[in-house]
Amino acid sequence: MNKDRDMNIVVLPGDGAGPEVSAEAVKCLELLSDHCGLDLRFETLDFGGAAIDTAGSPLPDSTLAACKGADAVLMGAVGGPRWDGRPEMPEAGLLKLRRALGLFANLRPARVIPGLEALSPLRADVAEGADVLVVRELTGGVYFGERTFSEEAASDLCVYSRAEIERIAHVAFQAARRRGRKVTSVDKANVMATSKLWRRTVVEVAEQYPGVALDHMYVDAAAMALVTNPRRFDVILTENMFGDILSDELSVIGGSIGLLGSASVGETGPGLFEPIHGSAIDIAGLDIANPSGAIASAAMMLEHLGLADMGHILGEALRKTLLAGCRTADLGGSARCSEFGETVREYLRRRLVHYDVHLELVTMNRGCCA
Ligand code: NAD
Ligand code: IPM
Ligand code: MN
Repeated sequence: MNKDRDMNIVVLPGDGAGPEVSAEAVKCLELLSDHCGLDLRFETLDFGGAAIDTAGSPLPDSTLAACKGADAVLMGAVGGPRWDGRPEMPEAGLLKLRRALGLFANLRPARVIPGLEALSPLRADVAEGADVLVVRELTGGVYFGERTFSEEAASDLCVYSRAEIERIAHVAFQAARRRGRKVTSVDKANVMATSKLWRRTVVEVAEQYPGVALDHMYVDAAAMALVTNPRRFDVILTENMFGDILSDELSVIGGSIGLLGSASVGETGPGLFEPIHGSAIDIAGLDIANPSGAIASAAMMLEHLGLADMGHILGEALRKTLLAGCRTADLGGSARCSEFGETVREYLRRRLVHYDVHLELVTMNRGCCA
């Protein structure tokens, strides 16, 4: 238990529905902080389109400096038609932040929650038991290669070094050891040079993990298998763009893109925690977005901060809320974003009554033994 720890969390609500969903996550964290002897301090800063409006840049230097100095960064989402086509779009700020913080590993866990199979657009017998972690490489590939553009032709260069592939492969194999001991590496090695190096490098890294099974799939076949046989996957290891696309597909197997949180981490320094969805412009400002992905991201943040017990408590409160039938519109319900968040906090309060008792007992015991 990490009592008496104080931590600085930079919150980047961003654009569209980002501020709505991240506000619910922050309120959950504040509740946990108040009850559990923590001192989580939040600094909320403009980012993305909001920062273009106020500071002329999606990632102002002051925001980047605050993120670098934080214990963790919690983000909503960025982007929207207002800023589309600008020389520096909100999305460019996000890429710059990921790169500046060295966040090469993006972890996107998705599962069909037992009892909630009916939320899946897939048949229950196909969806049942699906539990997949996408390990997406986040600071390389076509996202960061040189680009050219003219009215007649354009190009995006895709580059991967062996070292970049090795370090993300280690993340995937280590995660698989803690889960179902299987890695599926997804590439396009029948076409792309980067994928050929990817496959060769992953095979070499796999030798260090004899207890973990490895197989390979081409990305097109993987996209198909995700919706025909999602249980065949445990950890999916893949490059930046394939991971982006496959994780949106995977998210709806559980019911909605609004459900998935993510952790982006590097070797050192603060992690960035954000739902996988975008700014959901079509529903922004209506208080109807699903804050589950933002709350799940907050739970992952707690875990990465060494507060796994609190992350677990938050994740459980989220699961209970969904199982109790509290659902936002994307899941066919009528709960507002704020109502959903409040229901999660209601479960947290109930749980924390027991936690307080537990805390007192631990403190008393410590007192006795001292
Ligand atoms: P999107 O994820 O914002 O929305 C896709 C669909 O899913 C929409 O119908 C939306 O209403 C729905 N949706 C998304 N999140 C939801 C939630 N929490 N609850 C309920 N429904 C939800 O993707 P898009 O429409 O392609 O992109 C919109 C903007 O967001 C673009 O500017 C894009 O670049 C940006 N974007 C940002 C991020 C990010 O910040 N990490 C991620 C993806 C897209
Ligand atoms: C995501 C988003 C981003 C990405 C965009 C907004 C740059 O789609 O986080 O999944 O492609 O990585
Ligand atoms: Mn995406």
